[in-house]
Amino acid sequence: MASTSLRKLERKVALITGAASGIGEATARLFSRHGAKVVIADVQDNLGQKVANDLGSSSAIFVHCDVTTESDVKNVVDTTISKFGKLDIMHNNAGIIGEPNTSILESTLTDFEQVIKVNLISYFLGTKHAARVMIPNRSGSIIMTASTSSVIAGGAPHAYTSSKHGIVGLTKNTAVELGQHGIRVNCISPYLLDTPLSRVFYGDDVFKKVYPNGKILHRDDVAEAALYLASDEVGYVSGHNLMVDGGNSNLKLGFNYFSQSK
Ligand SMILES: NC(=O)c1ccc[n+]([C@@H]2O[C@H](COP(=O)([O-])OP(=O)(O)OC[C@H]3O[C@@H](n4cnc5c(N)ncnc54)[C@H](O)[C@@H]3O)[C@@H](O)[C@H]2O)c1
Repeated sequence: MASTSLRKLERKVALITGAASGIGEATARLFSRHGAKVVIADVQDNLGQKVANDLGSSSAIFVHCDVTTESDVKNVVDTTISKFGKLDIMHNNAGIIGEPNTSILESTLTDFEQVIKVNLISYFLGTKHAARVMIPNRSGSIIMTASTSSVIAGGAPHAYTSSKHGIVGLTKNTAVELGQHGIRVNCISPYLLDTPLSRVFYGDDVFKKVYPNGKILHRDDVAEAALYLASDEVGYVSGHNLMVDGGNSNLKLGFNYFSQSK
């Protein structure tokens, strides 16, 4: 627990999508330790409810939300307002990686559309409905989880890389518009790290390949970056894509996804 004087999100209310697992869960736990009320939005009801229970009923709630459905996104934002009175921090974080196709020839339209829906269109919906309730308060911080696949190529399937590049455009455009209303919009781009999303997809071997020099990125490191962007201490940082990659993606991704054996 951060000591009271060091708590950075005292009296703040945060809504995090995909918070039943991985980066979103780590962020929910960190934000709560820093004094925020947290709304956990996910389709994994049991895991999401468990995270909320761990944080305590006066500090957190779980709301079932399929982020690709606008009525669900509207509902979770409205539930946040009715339960906690306001929304200060919106973290669009839910994501999928899609089918493990290593060629565009095998990629299906169905999969491409689904990845874009979960990873990009849902961020548009989350941003839109967060802005709806933040604009009257003339303040807020909107954070999107992108990926190093927002700026580099060859590390993931085409749909995933396309969705993550799109998040950067959405971040910059909404930062320009919403800045007029006192709202900051930023995204975070983590390097590959071990979560259910990446483990099922890439397997164990990839982590050795992409960290040739040792220090491994952990979900708590990404949560700390979200905390930085959420807090009022960075009042003039907006439209930024914060790389959480240990510098690795500047050098070279340690592997080429498309040349992996099947
Ligand atoms: N793990 C990595 O290596 C890595 C690297 C860079 C970026 N990211 C990004 O981080 C974000 C979080 O992923 P993670 O790695 O923590 O994986 P994760 O699988 O642990 O968490 C993703 C969460 O999103 C939820 N989700 C998926 N579809 C949803 C939907 N339609 N509605 C609501 N929730 C939904 C899942 O239930 C899950 O709880 C994603 O946007 C991912 O692209 C991950």
